[in-house]
Amino acid sequence: MTVMIDGKALADEIVQDVAQEVSSFKLKHKVVPGLAVVLVGEDPASSVYVRNKILRTEQAGLQSFAHYLPENTTQKQLDDLIDQLNEDDSVHGILVQLPLPKHLSESRVIDAISPAKDVDGFHPENVGKLVTGQQVLVPCTPLGCMIMLKRHVDELSGKHAVVIGRSNIVGKPIANLLLQSHCTVTIVHSRTHNIESICRSADILIAAVGQPHLVKEDWVKPGAVVIDVGINQITSDGKRKLVGDVDYHAVFSKVSAITPVPGGVGPMTIACLIQNTLTAAKHQFG
Ligand code: GUN
Repeated sequence: MTVMIDGKALADEIVQDVAQEVSSFKLKHKVVPGLAVVLVGEDPASSVYVRNKILRTEQAGLQSFAHYLPENTTQKQLDDLIDQLNEDDSVHGILVQLPLPKHLSESRVIDAISPAKDVDGFHPENVGKLVTGQQVLVPCTPLGCMIMLKRHVDELSGKHAVVIGRSNIVGKPIANLLLQSHCTVTIVHSRTHNIESICRSADILIAAVGQPHLVKEDWVKPGAVVIDVGINQITSDGKRKLVGDVDYHAVFSKVSAITPVPGGVGPMTIACLIQNTLTAAKHQFG
């Protein structure tokens, strides 16, 4: 029997746990952990993600500071806002939603965020810590994927994990986390030869490329655990819908467990952001 990995239910559990911890944190330190979320422009998908992030933040009893900046914001204005948030003692976590409009530098913004408040785990100092196994703040989507895998795979050690995609946000950090859990890790990408046959040898398959239904039934090994990070909007029979990078229905009966889209990785990313905000606040209070 194939298990559908319910990211929504697991995310609810995590947010509830964080909410309890936030209550004791408030009592102990007389401070409410705060998360600042910055959105530049009005990209529809980013606007939905940011709205959900703020909603969940408040559900967990954290304070949220939303900063909606216009599309024509200058680099200097964005830099000044980051400086101000870095200095603000009521802000324990800072997230700048990506992608940014083309005229703004993502790497400059990521570098400007204080590593202690970098709840995305994108700052080079935090990336270095992740690679060397000293991480405190781990990128949210990879962290969510690992929590789901640990619930559904008895023993990660020695398993062959194949990651499709090499982004800084998902592919590279998840490969590092899998390695820390003693998996044998292969990253495949657009230039890889024989991608299907490599995927077919995976005990754990993580798809994070943003290509609707790329992974077909003959790409997966019987009994594999599949984590689908893709969130792609397609039009089918005249209706718009969200699908993953995996052809879910074609693959479902062949694998032992799989995440749906929507309702899999997406809610876990937000839950992990909430968890990271609490982690950042705890560290700032030593
Ligand atoms: N855009 C897509 N995913 C993410 C994420 O995890 N963090 C930020 N800041 N932007 C994103």
